[in-house]
Amino acid sequence: MTGSLTIRRPDDWHLHVRDGAILDAVVPHTARQFARAIIMPNLVPPATTTELITAYRDRIVAAIPAGADFTPLMTAYLTDKTDPDDLAAGHEAGVITAAKLYPAGATTNSDSGVTDIAAIMPVLRRMAEIGMPLLVHGEVTDAEIDIFDREAVFIERTLKPLMDRLPDLKIVLEHITTAEAAETVRQGGETLAATITPHHLMINRTDIFRGGIRPHLYCLPIAKREIHRLAIRALATSGHPRVFLGTDSAPHPIGAKESSCGCAGIFSAPTAVELYAQVFEEDNALDRLESFASLNGPAFYGLPVNQATVTLYREETVVPDEISIDEATRIRPFRSGETLAWRLR
Ligand code: NCD
Ligand code: ZN
Repeated sequence: MTGSLTIRRPDDWHLHVRDGAILDAVVPHTARQFARAIIMPNLVPPATTTELITAYRDRIVAAIPAGADFTPLMTAYLTDKTDPDDLAAGHEAGVITAAKLYPAGATTNSDSGVTDIAAIMPVLRRMAEIGMPLLVHGEVTDAEIDIFDREAVFIERTLKPLMDRLPDLKIVLEHITTAEAAETVRQGGETLAATITPHHLMINRTDIFRGGIRPHLYCLPIAKREIHRLAIRALATSGHPRVFLGTDSAPHPIGAKESSCGCAGIFSAPTAVELYAQVFEEDNALDRLESFASLNGPAFYGLPVNQATVTLYREETVVPDEISIDEATRIRPFRSGETLAWRLR
């Protein structure tokens, strides 16, 4: 059995770090594991303009521990009013790597998102021209569509028509959870990619209700049936060149999760790479971990791969029970208190 595994330093292509005290507490966890991370812009108020995004990047950089080698890659939160010139200027200046489409109301802090994709066609056309990737929260928001069907319906109603209309637009279908999404990515061309979270590789919808309701396993898109978990797991470990790591680590204070109306979001940053290593090992695919974690993402974004390496050791790692933000605020990580088979050092 393999005792250690050295790979190029990985990147996280979908991450929430929030702001203020939470930002300060969570950034070091990601900087320990990853060289770069695509930072989600769903703050309150959202990071919508080059000016706001530049200021947010500076706050993140200030939270990186001394000596750590970590670069935040920033995204713009698209709204019905996004100015294509501001977006293109931010991209040209190297401040904004990609833009994020939240259908309005789809998830945490998405109320200012896009109400109708037709309204932002000029923005999307401009992005296609300049090669700026569109990152998509792929769920419809119609209240009458069952929550477990929202991703599959989005693919038919919104994603496929958009791909037909703008075949040159680079699209990342984020945090995929269904067999339909996996199939769409397999059939898709060079301009369609997907990210997959560690939790969607590990849990199905039954786990959310195992022995009682488990608010720390609630996220959006919500985990689906076992057949869907197996489908995205097969895709993740297949070596497909346009499928890569994106944790969607989304910290919320314990009180906001354990509530009569708990927030969506799973916090996996402290042991993200160890979680993925466990999945790849279980599927006899450790030799494909590096392409998923460190090579496919930069290739799709047109960025260089990282030169430094990290080593995973076959050593038990206990996931911390909680991360302390301040005296009143704590955050519970995914798999808290459990033992994982690998340790990144
Ligand atoms: C994310 C958050 O909390 O910001 N929540 C989640 O369940 N994934 C938003 C998102 O990515 O949908
Ligand atoms: Zn997210």
